Amino acid sequence: MNHYSVTLQGLDKTAALGAVIAEHLRPGDRVLLHGEMGAGKTTLARSIGAALQAAPPLSSPTFILLSEHSGRLPIWHLDAYRLGPGADPNASGLLDERQLLGVTLIEWPEYFGITASGLLGASDLHLTITGSDEGVRSVDLRTGDAERLAAIAAQWQAQHVGATER
Ligand SMILES: Nc1ncnc2c1ncn2[C@@H]1O[C@H](COP(=O)(O)OP(=O)(O)OP(=O)(O)O)[C@@H](O)[C@H]1O
Ligand SMILES: [Mg+2]
Repeated sequence: MNHYSVTLQGLDKTAALGAVIAEHLRPGDRVLLHGEMGAGKTTLARSIGAALQAAPPLSSPTFILLSEHSGRLPIWHLDAYRLGPGADPNASGLLDERQLLGVTLIEWPEYFGITASGLLGASDLHLTITGSDEGVRSVDLRTGDAERLAAIAAQWQAQHVGATER
């Protein structure tokens, strides 16, 4: 399995998905949040942060580029939007090796040239959010770690998908 789609009917489901994903994160992971403006990237990032007991809680980093949080794992939250397409994350010091100790959540990763297609690394979890219907979002999860994705999918199915939705 290298991709899995979930439908989120409202913010409580976003929180639930964040909690399931957080359980499967390990040091050195990057969570890449793709989606148009207003898709719900920050909302999902905050849900993952909350489940990791981030302190301070994640906020919208649009005006601060990068924020750092303690938690079950150290957390970095980065939003490349203001840098624009073609930004170099290494030159700007936004990605560094300390992040191997924790989890880095990145909004607008395509501005760093990080896309959800092609060969995927095992420690990269791509979350592509679509749908702007009032209160409904779809999230497509992709990673090179098929086993981990299967574990996330199984947990989501067991805990959050009703019998009629299967
Ligand atoms: N699953 C969801 N169900 C309903 N509304 C949602 C859901 N996820 C996010 N929203 C709403 O969509 C709006 C935009 O969310 P958010 O700020 O997370 O988007 P974003 O992708 O980070 O936007 P930007 O590109 O501007 O940073 C918010 O009002 C949020 O409450
Ligand atoms: Mg955002």
